[in-house]
Amino acid sequence: MASNAPTSATSSAPAPALLQVDSLVKEFGGLHAVNHVSFNLREGSITGLIGPNGAGKTTLFNTLAGAHRPNGGRILLRGRRIDGLPPHRIFAAGLARTFQIPRPFATMTLLENLMLVPADQPGEHFWNNWVARGAVARRERAIRDQALELLAWLGLERLATEPASVLSGGQRKLLELARVLMAQPAAILLDEPGAGVHPVLLAQIAQRLRELPARGVTLLVIEHNLDLVMSLCNPVLVMAQGRLLMEGTPDQVRQDARVLEAYLGAAPVDVRESAT
Ligand SMILES: Nc1ncnc2c1ncn2[C@@H]1O[C@H](COP(=O)(O)OP(=O)(O)OP(=O)(O)O)[C@@H](O)[C@H]1O
Ligand SMILES: [Mg+2]
Repeated sequence: MASNAPTSATSSAPAPALLQVDSLVKEFGGLHAVNHVSFNLREGSITGLIGPNGAGKTTLFNTLAGAHRPNGGRILLRGRRIDGLPPHRIFAAGLARTFQIPRPFATMTLLENLMLVPADQPGEHFWNNWVARGAVARRERAIRDQALELLAWLGLERLATEPASVLSGGQRKLLELARVLMAQPAAILLDEPGAGVHPVLLAQIAQRLRELPARGVTLLVIEHNLDLVMSLCNPVLVMAQGRLLMEGTPDQVRQDARVLEAYLGAAPVDVRESAT
């Protein structure tokens, strides 16, 4: 399906979406947690994914990231099938994800947590470095510089040599973001970046997320804080009971009766009141 792929009267073939999800199915026993979901993730977008509790959002992420094997459908990253690949291959292909509850290595410093990441990356076969030993120190320095640059960008540089256990819940989310950015992914699936985060830090996280498309990173963001979604994301996808209910601009989503109904049927959230 290519419903939201950019179309142009002058070009015969529209640019493929960064991620194409085609009739994806994930079942648990008889439960269709993800039920024939299709959408395209436009390159350079910050796309939102909302829906009431149990709608299937995290299951969709887990299936896209390879933690669950789909029961049907296709997932293409830059036109190449990734469904059925193990998580580390999907990560190496450029699709990263963060977790609803991040768990950094608590006794390691922030810097060490970040410097662990790139060894798994393609084109960075660390055994090559055993052959070319002179490259090891240079490579270490480059990784360290990249980690320090990310920590500075996220306002965590003064904590670089502190153990991750000193971080607040919101700062852990920032470290988690830095961790996946170390791998220089094409896209990040963010599961509830705003959950449990102090409003001041939340504004900072939102601002950093807004800067990511300019750094070449496309985002798909699950979030229950609808103010955050509506100010950050376009388009917004809405899931309910395993299905994709609609896709639209924040305004379209706010005004869609089906969306309101899905939320009212499940939880006392009023999407119309969420605009700021
Ligand atoms: N590993 C699993 N085994 C069995 N059922 C599961 C599993 N994971 C999720 N489910 C079920 O699949 C459905 C979708 O759950 P999911 O966690 O994807 O929802 P969600 O949209 O992320 O909800 P929330 O907003 O509360 O995080 C729910 O009915 C849930 O109970
Ligand atoms: Mg979830």
